Amino acid sequence: MKLNDYLSPEELKRLASALLAVLGFLSIVAFFGFTVVPGLRYQAHTLPDAQVQAVQGETGWLDPTDYPAMPREVIPPIDPKTVLTPNATLMTRGKAVYAQTCATCHGPDGKGDGPGGLGLTPKPRNFTEQAAWKNGTRLEDIYRTLDEGIKGSSMVSYNYLTKKDRMALAHVVQSLGAFNHGASDPKAIAALEKLFASAGEIIPNRIPVARAVTVLCREYAEAHATPPASTIR
Ligand code: HEC
Repeated sequence: MKLNDYLSPEELKRLASALLAVLGFLSIVAFFGFTVVPGLRYQAHTLPDAQVQAVQGETGWLDPTDYPAMPREVIPPIDPKTVLTPNATLMTRGKAVYAQTCATCHGPDGKGDGPGGLGLTPKPRNFTEQAAWKNGTRLEDIYRTLDEGIKGSSMVSYNYLTKKDRMALAHVVQSLGAFNHGASDPKAIAALEKLFASAGEIIPNRIPVARAVTVLCREYAEAHATPPASTIR
């Protein structure tokens, strides 16, 4: 049985060119499926870190280099005595956190003149002056500021810091101003004592902002990638 028994030379030619067209089409599909699509997907996976622009917070304080990666921490309740009055270890710790986290806005000496605070309204508080504090200057007042932040300003809540660090900061802030910060309300202090002694805290894993952005970009790219070759028809 031969093909030309059934088909005229004319029909054979047409069959051959139809076959060629199908083959051509298949090779184009294969090229896209096996080369172009995986290439694009690979690119999406390997966006170099350098391409990711640093995100700036509204106020510019979100410096992506500021926050090192830190593993999750489980912190037991603290003895109130070790944080309610300043001591050398607490102050050393507080100063280090202050320099890293607060000085950009409040300035290294607390004068409210840090570079990060330049364009802000309201301006960062000047800790060397007694005037204009909104929450107050007592220990419990400053702790509250750190816990809640100040609405309508770029003073955000720092409750991601441990209670101990926040107390250390409250002492450091007080130490920067040479005025009378006022006697604490015994009830407020009792409440703080209870807070510190009653429960520990869990600080979750942390990664730097720039790293988080990279991860988000990659996950976005994965979720919106061209479908795998197998689904192309
Ligand atoms: C992005 C800049 C910025 C950073 C960073 C910042 N602050 Fe502030 N802070 C402000 C601004 C602005 C105000 C004034 C808010 C207002 O007047 O409403 C303020 C006010 C305060 C006050 C005064 C609250 C009151 O009663 O008026 C305290 C205390 C304070 N900050 C402590 C800190 C500490 C401690 C840190 C570091 C953990 C810190 N701040 C980090 C911007 C900042």
